[in-house]
Amino acid sequence: MGPAANVVNRDRSEMKTLRFEPLREGHIPAILEIEKVSNTAPWSEKSFQNELNHTHGIFLVAILQGDVVGYGGVWLVVDEAHVTTIAVAEEQRRQGIGQKLMIELLERAKATGMVCSTLEVRASNVGAIKMYEKFGYAITATRKGYYPDNKEDAVVMWLYDLDSWESPSL
Ligand SMILES: CC(C)(COP(=O)(O)OP(=O)(O)OC[C@H]1O[C@@H](n2cnc3c(N)ncnc32)[C@H](O)[C@@H]1OP(=O)(O)O)[C@@H](O)C(=O)NCCC(=O)NCCS
Repeated sequence: MGPAANVVNRDRSEMKTLRFEPLREGHIPAILEIEKVSNTAPWSEKSFQNELNHTHGIFLVAILQGDVVGYGGVWLVVDEAHVTTIAVAEEQRRQGIGQKLMIELLERAKATGMVCSTLEVRASNVGAIKMYEKFGYAITATRKGYYPDNKEDAVVMWLYDLDSWESPSL
């Protein structure tokens, strides 16, 4: 087998694997397609561009078979990892991609020295709340009418022990 065939084989096996990449400009058009069907108040293109140069943030893109299938970000605020967004393409949900994305984000945040993590989620977003609970986040407060688009309440969740947190085996 010549060198060219080796390259083709290696690329094919990599394509089957879910992998995570730091956000690049080229990911943004595909992200916007997922975003518009995932959030009732979608982030703008500019919001994602701001994540490209965020010095205190981690923003990862999930790639499956060469396609962008999800993304998520955290801001690193003193010693707290704030989850700012996470979404998976509708047709790829309930296959564990969201969980794997959360594990990548939390492990990387922990590696930078973050000791806890927090997030806000719409009170009606039962699926996301269940996912966060699986990671040890607990509901600590409700912010009444927090979301301007429909005045929905936000649920505030905290994971207090990120520094000793072990990622669950999936
Ligand atoms: C929330 C979201 C990212 C989850 O991604 P996903 O790849 O489907 O999640 P996973 O397959 O890894 O599921 C993880 C766990 O979350 C929970 N979960 C996820 N979606 C759920 C749903 N629709 N109903 C109930 N539980 C759900 C389950 O506990 C699930 O584990 P299980 O499949 O073993 O039961 C995805 O539903 C999404 O993109 N939603 C729209 C955007 C959004 O709401 N983001 C969160 C904003 S705070």
